[in-house]
Amino acid sequence: MPLSILGIAGSLRAGSFNRSLLAACRELAPAGMEIAPWERVGEIPLYDADLEARGVPEPVEALKSAMRAADGILIATPEYNHSIPGVLKNAIDWASRPAGKPAYGGKPVALLGATPGRGGTIRGQLAVRQALDTDVHILPRPEVFVSQAGEKFDPSGRLTDEPTRRVVGGLLKAFEDWIREIRR
Ligand code: FNR
Repeated sequence: MPLSILGIAGSLRAGSFNRSLLAACRELAPAGMEIAPWERVGEIPLYDADLEARGVPEPVEALKSAMRAADGILIATPEYNHSIPGVLKNAIDWASRPAGKPAYGGKPVALLGATPGRGGTIRGQLAVRQALDTDVHILPRPEVFVSQAGEKFDPSGRLTDEPTRRVVGGLLKAFEDWIREIRR
């Protein structure tokens, strides 16, 4: 059975480097791994406990079901003001509920991120680790920080930089091994 991976990009932008990075992951995944990008992050309303009490909104239920069903979760995050975009944090906040029973609980998770800047989303990825806390098994390394992204993707959004493609391929192979290791 191929491993089924849920891909989440923390950007709604059509030309997003991080969405393009997830697309590259689909291309570079090992034979035993299928990555399905979650395209509905923008449909998730702002977290509101009153709204939750009236009934969890359908896009949130769909996200939580997709997380529970996945063998692993791959998150491509931008860095906003040295942290993560609100859309990604909001999705994590919804998925973390009810308290103590997050939909991503116990899942293997791998992170990567792209920025046109030089920092490679180092602080953004740290913020994802902090938000997910101890409820997940985050792949410790390799860490993939795609800096100066404007030079690494072509105008159509394809990841063309060969060293980056190799590093991303290496992350996905390590993720496959990590998932199988955790299952053992
Ligand atoms: C940014 N950007 C940014 N980049 C970075 O490397 N570190 C940062 O702290 C920030 N902060 C930041 C704040 C806000 C509000 C915006 C809109 C942008 C730039 C960011 O990396 C750039 O817009 C990316 O292109 C966003 O990712 P996507 O949409 O291309 O995936």
